[in-house]
Amino acid sequence: ALHASFTPKIGPKIRPSNRLNPQASAFKVAVLGAAGGIGQPLGLLIKMSPLVSHLHLYDVANVKGVAADLSHCNTPSLVRDFSGQSEIADCLRGVDLVVIPAGVPRKPGMTRDDLFNINAGIVKTLAEAVADNCPDALIHIISNPVNSTMPIAAEVLKQKGVYDPKKLFGVTTLDVVRANTFVAQRKNLKLIDVDVPVVGGHAGITILPLLSRTRPSVTFADHEIEQLTVRIQNAGTEVVEAKDGGGSATLSMAYASARFVESSLRALDGDEDVYECSFIQSELIPDLPFFASRVKLGRKGVEAVISADLQGLTEYESKALEALKPELKASIEKGVAFAQKQN
Ligand code: NAD
Ligand code: LMR
Repeated sequence: ALHASFTPKIGPKIRPSNRLNPQASAFKVAVLGAAGGIGQPLGLLIKMSPLVSHLHLYDVANVKGVAADLSHCNTPSLVRDFSGQSEIADCLRGVDLVVIPAGVPRKPGMTRDDLFNINAGIVKTLAEAVADNCPDALIHIISNPVNSTMPIAAEVLKQKGVYDPKKLFGVTTLDVVRANTFVAQRKNLKLIDVDVPVVGGHAGITILPLLSRTRPSVTFADHEIEQLTVRIQNAGTEVVEAKDGGGSATLSMAYASARFVESSLRALDGDEDVYECSFIQSELIPDLPFFASRVKLGRKGVEAVISADLQGLTEYESKALEALKPELKASIEKGVAFAQKQN
């Protein structure tokens, strides 16, 4: 049965931290877009975290009921709801980590970039509120197209003079979660052991799973590499088509986001063994100021970028990396230009 000390097993590296004073390491987390398809199950998973003391739920509509509902779970965190522009400052003040899944999802036939016109403005407004009210918080951007919305947030924070590239993340955890699942199924491996780094960005061919870096070490035939890579790249579309107009991935996304939140909080809490893939500011690839790669997380956000993942790529991976560069560059520039034009 669920009880207050229940610790969810989210991802392979989740474990309860052994703290002498639990009060000293309790974190405040805000979810912006908390009443949505991702926001609701994400709120539930974060409510189950023993690292969280306060859970602030913000949306433009329908958030009161979600908060009332979640607040009855007998886990430690205090849940509060905030609605509309007038309450966002109170929602964000003093928060350690902000997760942003606000915005519209895809329908069949759409690309993630088709969401730009609506979601770019939403992310810009929310990033401004974060800059004004909790400039030191870690920020996880989920809203699509991540390849553009994350650069928009970076630009907004720069304009406000509070940009810390170590603390701003485009969430690509779902690509890793999918890669791990599909590889484990294909190669009949124990899921908990499998770890596939995914680099690049979060749309179509910009999603590049480095299957040659799979742990435990495993050999793939050429056709397996092709099939697995294409399936991982199209997994979002697989869900959009299965939902048939009802939206995109919400439950697996909430799971993936909760894993990234938990990893980030463990790192803030002093755990020195936390690694995740994320779309971050990067100097790894010339001409691509943002690039997803595996990073070591620490008390101040990104502590190190694991550049070794990109050394000694297979021919297939090298070609795929070359192929993704123009699209990723264009998406980044589109986001930056939007934020600069609006200023
Ligand atoms: P949804 O429509 O179910 O929920 C979105 C929520 O955002 C709604 O509750 C809505 O009221 C709220 N919202 C809209 N404008 C807002 C604003 N200005 N401030 C606060 N809240 C606002 O959509 P969803 O299925 O939860 O998806 C949300 C976003 O996440 C989409 O853009 C989707 O493409 C993206 N997504 C990203 C990934 C990823 O891997 N990064 C995975 C899945 C979905
Ligand atoms: C995903 O990968 O599932 C998300 O980016 C949502 C989408 O539109 O595919």
